[in-house]
Amino acid sequence: MKEPRNDKKIYVPALGFHRLTPLYDWIAGCAGYGFRFWYTLMMQAQLEDEQRVLDLGSGTGSLAILIKQCFPGIEISALDCDPKILSLASRKAERAQAGIHFVRAFAERLPYPDNYFDRILSSLLFHHLTGDSKRKTAIEMLRVLKPGGEMYVMDWGRAANPVMRCLFFTVQLVDGFDNTCDNAAGRLPVFFEQAGFCKVGQLQAFNTIFGTLAFYRAVKA
Ligand SMILES: C[S@@+](CC[C@H](N)C(=O)[O-])C[C@H]1O[C@@H](n2cnc3c(N)ncnc32)[C@H](O)[C@@H]1O
Repeated sequence: MKEPRNDKKIYVPALGFHRLTPLYDWIAGCAGYGFRFWYTLMMQAQLEDEQRVLDLGSGTGSLAILIKQCFPGIEISALDCDPKILSLASRKAERAQAGIHFVRAFAERLPYPDNYFDRILSSLLFHHLTGDSKRKTAIEMLRVLKPGGEMYVMDWGRAANPVMRCLFFTVQLVDGFDNTCDNAAGRLPVFFEQAGFCKVGQLQAFNTIFGTLAFYRAVKA
C-alpha cells in the first residue's frame, strides 16, 4: 500500500469512531446498507471489462470486491485514508480471491496521474468531508478521470420529506454537522459542477432509516 504524504491530516472514520471500525460491515448490514446499494451504484456505472476503475473511500472494500467479482477483467483500485479499514478490506479481498489494488491516501490528493481512470465510484465518502475537502476531492476526481470518463457517487442527499430530515440528524451527530450540512442541503451536485464536471445529475434516491440516499452521476467532458 502507498502511504499518504500528509499522515497528520484528521479524517472521520467509517462509523465516526475508530473503535467501531471492526464492526462496520456488521452494523452497516444490520442497518440495511449493503449489497442492494452497491449493486445499484455498480449497475448505474455501466462497467465493462478492461476498464480502469477507482473505488474512492472504499472502506472495507465491499463495492470493489463486488465489481471485481462481476467484472473480472476490470483493473480496480480501492483508496481509503484509514489504515485500519484498509487492512480489513485487503483481508476480505484475499478471502474473496479478488485482485484489488488497495491504496492508502486522501481523496483530496489522489496519487494517480491525470486522465487515468474510466470510471470512479464512491459510496458514502462525501459526507465525511468538509466543504473545502469536498471541493478539492471533486477537482481531483475530474483530474484523474479520462476525458469522457464518468463518476458515480452514492451519498446522503436532500431529505425527501421531514421524517427523512429528522432521521438524518443521527448521521449528523455521528459524522459531524460541518461535514454533513452540504449533503443535507442537497449541494453535492454544486461541488461537481464547480469542479468542472458536465451532465451532473441525480439518478435515483432511496429513503432509508438514516435519511435519503442519493445517487449522482457526472461526466468529464
Ligand atoms: C462510511 S465509510 C464508506 C465505506 C464504503 N465506501 C462503503 O460504502 O461501505 C467512509 C469511508 O471514507 C473514508 N474517508 C474519510 N475521509 C477520507 C478522506 N479524506 N480520504 C479518503 N478516505 C476517506 C473513511 O476512512 C471510511 O472508510
